Amino acid sequence: MSSFGGSVDSQVNGEIDDGVPNAIDPFALSLNENPYPPLPAVRAALIRSIDAANRYPEFQPERLRGLIAGHIGMPADQVVLGAGATGVVMEALQAFTAPGDCIAMASPTFDGHPIVAQMARLNVVTVPLDEYGHNNLDGLAEVAAHARVVVVCRPHNPTGTLEPSSEIVRFLSRVPRDTVVLLDEAYIEFVAPELRLDISALVARFPNLVVVRTFSKAYGLAGLRIGYGLASPALARTLWEHQPPYGMASTSLLAVAASYEAEDQLLQRIRLITAERRYLRMRLSAMRVYTCDAHANFMYLPSRGRSWREVFADTGLHVRLYDDGSARITVGGRESTMAVLSAVGQLR
Ligand SMILES: Cc1ncc(COP(=O)(O)O)c(C=O)c1O
Repeated sequence: MSSFGGSVDSQVNGEIDDGVPNAIDPFALSLNENPYPPLPAVRAALIRSIDAANRYPEFQPERLRGLIAGHIGMPADQVVLGAGATGVVMEALQAFTAPGDCIAMASPTFDGHPIVAQMARLNVVTVPLDEYGHNNLDGLAEVAAHARVVVVCRPHNPTGTLEPSSEIVRFLSRVPRDTVVLLDEAYIEFVAPELRLDISALVARFPNLVVVRTFSKAYGLAGLRIGYGLASPALARTLWEHQPPYGMASTSLLAVAASYEAEDQLLQRIRLITAERRYLRMRLSAMRVYTCDAHANFMYLPSRGRSWREVFADTGLHVRLYDDGSARITVGGRESTMAVLSAVGQLR
């Protein structure tokens, strides 16, 4: 290769390398990512899988499906896979909707849901959250009667609130059986075990339910795009038919296997993040800043007459800011917490 070609290559490589985010960045608090880089065992597994990158992954990701099924204790034929939780939601919309159908969801909600609904050319019907950031499940059940799909996030994004299990069951009982319910549990690993739903029992009772989960949050693998869905055998069969060929990268299988093996260390990280969340909430509350009752790895500050956009401007912190003045802040380590508290402290 000529030296001219070489220098162009390295220039391009330099620009591309610049596009790789920093694994450790205490100021990156806008996407609810995990603040920790991959565990050493997960990193080693990823490197092993990359050594065979010239080979295709499985045509249909049966082994990954079996691995996840075994770990969560459900039959493999009730597990489906996707490129992140987003990929699973897209597969569900492709499988169960036609352009012009209605999809119901809360407002505000996870930014991705209205985006994929629009890609599927659905009409989005929204139901506002209450003033404490909770879903209006009665309102959602009412509009779900005229919708093809209804999405509920538990915990909710952006507020982090958690509807009680009994209210979810009541909601599911009210939704007609020909409306598909997407129950988005992207942050479930941050929820106290006693507050989690019995998913196996729920999908057995409600054949129109798809539970969506991801390795992007508690497992810290957002860049690998691994998500899964859990549903009744019939619904899962339809979803599996929408699984793209060779759709899950070969890195997925080894990364998930290594993560499951290192579960103790991951649980320790989850405990650190939830402890940090409690600390941040307590400190904000001491500063008389209201935050919603959060059960995930982020915190929501409703505007309540003030614009958080102005507060966080020029602080260097990347948080998710909403048009109504509210803000959602990912919980990181103590350095992130102190930066947030210092920004909020300037208010006084
Ligand atoms: C509620 C919710 N669902 C789904 C996702 C998307 O996750 P994934 O990276 O698995 O596509 C997110 C990401 O922020 C989320 O907050």
